[in-house]
Amino acid sequence: MISFPTLLILILLLLPLIFGAPAENPKALEKILVEENPDTTENREKIRGIISEAFENRIPRVQGRQGVAPPVKLMALNYGPKNNQTKRFEELNSEINEYTFESDIMLNENQAKNLANSIINGNYRSKRQAIVDTTLFWSPSTPIYYQFDSKLSATNIANVRKAIKFWNDNTCLSFQENNSGKNRLFLSSAGGCWSYVGKQDNMPYQVVSVGPNCDSLGTATHELMHAIGFWHQQSRSDRDDYVYVDFSNIIPSQAYNFQKMPLDQAQLLALKYDYGSVMQYYPYAFALDSSKYTILAKENGMQNSMGQREAPAFSDLIAVNKLYNCTSQCKTKMTCSNCGFTDPKNCNQCKCPNYFTGPTCDALPTGTAVNCNGAIIQAISSWQTFNATAGDPNSYTSSQGNSSSCFWHIKAPAGQKIEFKMTTAPMAAICMQECPWQAVEINLGQFDLYGMITCCDTMLNQVLTSVQNVIALRGRVSYNQLKFSVQYRAVPNQGTATTQTCVTI
Ligand SMILES: *[C@@H]1O[C@H](CO)[C@@H](O)[C@H](O)[C@H]1NC(C)=O
Ligand SMILES: *[C@@H]1O[C@H](CO)[C@@H](O)[C@H](O)[C@H]1NC(C)=O
Ligand SMILES: *[C@@H]1O[C@H](CO)[C@@H](O)[C@H](O)[C@H]1NC(C)=O
Ligand SMILES: *[C@@H]1O[C@H](CO)[C@@H](O)[C@H](O)[C@H]1NC(C)=O
Ligand SMILES: *[C@@H]1O[C@H](CO)[C@@H](O)[C@H](O)[C@H]1NC(C)=O
Ligand SMILES: [Zn+2]
Repeated sequence: MISFPTLLILILLLLPLIFGAPAENPKALEKILVEENPDTTENREKIRGIISEAFENRIPRVQGRQGVAPPVKLMALNYGPKNNQTKRFEELNSEINEYTFESDIMLNENQAKNLANSIINGNYRSKRQAIVDTTLFWSPSTPIYYQFDSKLSATNIANVRKAIKFWNDNTCLSFQENNSGKNRLFLSSAGGCWSYVGKQDNMPYQVVSVGPNCDSLGTATHELMHAIGFWHQQSRSDRDDYVYVDFSNIIPSQAYNFQKMPLDQAQLLALKYDYGSVMQYYPYAFALDSSKYTILAKENGMQNSMGQREAPAFSDLIAVNKLYNCTSQCKTKMTCSNCGFTDPKNCNQCKCPNYFTGPTCDALPTGTAVNCNGAIIQAISSWQTFNATAGDPNSYTSSQGNSSSCFWHIKAPAGQKIEFKMTTAPMAAICMQECPWQAVEINLGQFDLYGMITCCDTMLNQVLTSVQNVIALRGRVSYNQLKFSVQYRAVPNQGTATTQTCVTI
């Protein structure tokens, strides 16, 4: 028998589940609703209620869908100690989590209701990446207006301008500063880093919170990509094929942030899952023990690529250009190599993955690092060694956030593949997750996707086989000199495909 007092306590405990939890943190709401924000307390509270009600009691279902754990050998790979150099918005936003969705998304009422309906009806069987509702779309033929909050510092504004320029230069969308523009983005500092998803027609303008801790190129382009119309990478319904979400290390009240999203609000656009997407969560998001991952990559070598905030990945460019039918701006399309696509702002050239350059993406980029010995290396049937260098061996100053680059291509004859191994790793002695000082990105030949980021001896002497007859390496140096050695040889194709399949735009 349950005693009366116990019953009373039980009912009291259940009340929040029935009526939505009471505001625990009014201060958070004050921060979000800065003076200039046209959104309201009533609206934010209502949306919080809709979401918390829909997700309460459904967490076990969310958890049940995490899929099988990655192979033990991948989980045991040593990526070194956690990189505590840069604070991530997933951590900075903890004080506003109660009013955001997935840390940095401000849902509108329609989105919240649709989401709640799908959650309640158990409609998970879909993959999502981009918005579906056409009222949320911007138009390539109308400028996306923006305004800076006059309270932002000059440095802050200059940094955010770089992020706007990035999207302006790499898509058919045109951003234009206009302090009275209809549906403008109001770039402000409003308690953390966050954005609405898509154009919010019911507000005169919409806040994008990109204050002082949110204005690195990676973070600011991330928030702007939400505003352009994209959700997070790991909420795609096929994410369990790529990542393992460790619910045992997730703050229970935050588990709903790992929900997978329904197709009625999102489309995949036949895009591929990319660990290096700027829209992929940081792999420590919502951790109970912040020294342990909450998201584990199921593919070899991809752990360090998750949560990268250097800049949007090439797959992010593909995604935005595809959503907005950008190449239809060009009467004739270019034939681009290596998954490049016709540049909608200059129809006579291709937009290339960063390992390639030239009008049709066939050439090796020069690289910005001093002493870069970037080269196109021919593989033959016997193992050969290449020693790579980039950067100044006499410089002990860190240029964090402004790293320099160097590129190498390893090529086998057409129709063959390459076996490849790293035989000396950079910085093996100062191994650290994410490789902030020196890194090698290894792309085995699927160039519309991000590669493996390595610096420690994690990948040492592991023989990797290319997808096709080209492997691209990108060196990234922020400190001293990057030095590593690789061995490679051309091998006959074993009957599998020898060409990459690029996402068509
Ligand atoms: C970063 O912090 C975590 C947790 O405090 C610690 O385990 C880790 O060693 C630190 N990383 C470095 C490189 O000091
Ligand atoms: C600024 O926005 C307003 C309102 O949308 C528009 O009428 C005006 O033409 C825009 N100004 C410029 C210079 O584009
Ligand atoms: C892009 O084209 C598709 C198919 O023609 C169309 O359904 C979609 O609405 C277009 N998207 C935009 C943003 O105009
Ligand atoms: C690469 O460097 C190693 C020493 O680190 C040296 O023994 C080897 O000869 C070098 N190989 C080439 C091809 O330069
Ligand atoms: C970044 O590095 C480049 C050259 O590698 C230099 O021209 C530029 O001034 C640097 N930017 C900053 C902010 O340090
Ligand atoms: Zn986000």
